[in-house]
Amino acid sequence: MNLEDLKREAAARAVALVKDGMKLGLGTGSTAKHFVDLLGERVKNENLRVIGVPTSEATRQQAAALGIPLSTLDETPELDLTIDGADEIDPQLRLIKGGGGAHLREKIVALASKRMIVIADATKEVETLGRFPLPLEVIPFGLPATQRQIAAIFARHGLQGEMTMRMKDGAPFRTDSGNCVLDAHLARIPDPDALALHLDGVTGLVEHGLFIGIAKGAFLATPSGIKTLGSVA
Ligand code: A5P
Repeated sequence: MNLEDLKREAAARAVALVKDGMKLGLGTGSTAKHFVDLLGERVKNENLRVIGVPTSEATRQQAAALGIPLSTLDETPELDLTIDGADEIDPQLRLIKGGGGAHLREKIVALASKRMIVIADATKEVETLGRFPLPLEVIPFGLPATQRQIAAIFARHGLQGEMTMRMKDGAPFRTDSGNCVLDAHLARIPDPDALALHLDGVTGLVEHGLFIGIAKGAFLATPSGIKTLGSVA
């Protein structure tokens, strides 16, 4: 089984949780893409009635093309279930997200949901978060000053590591909200809860990629089957 097959396996387990009438948050990334594909099949073949709120323009376009009825949080501010991928997940279901730069909308949508379930291949499971660079969505105005504030917080946490500006086609990458992304190469984040709290207080940092206490469960696909974490019922 290759990685794409594993991602699809995890997505298939999540799509089985979807019930008629549900309001769903639709994640972003290559694993969430499988979920949206499979959801589209159920909508078409079973006449399943759901409403999806996408976490990115890419997901919105994909879901619309598949005929999944869509809404926004303006019209539908409370969702039943969000299914999304992750860049890292630890045993306490703490996540790093934002490898695709969508973590701001992903977090807003997940927090608007009664439940968020993560789907991933098991290579995303780690003992300690941080090997994956932590995405930080920042307002372009005053970016070097914001970066200094963030660096001071890292220093207080005893964390060292470069922050690099995410680039795309030779220019700073822009999120769906028009912001930039710094990737913090921290290697190891021993206390993600405290770091998240401190980063929450930085003006100019719109959102960081630490998801703490948000995911309720996870389907992690291994070559020998699906491993579940937390509550996936
Ligand atoms: C998007 O910004 C991310 O949070 C993704 O959910 C995350 O990067 C996982 O993506 P993959 O499923 O492509 O690994």
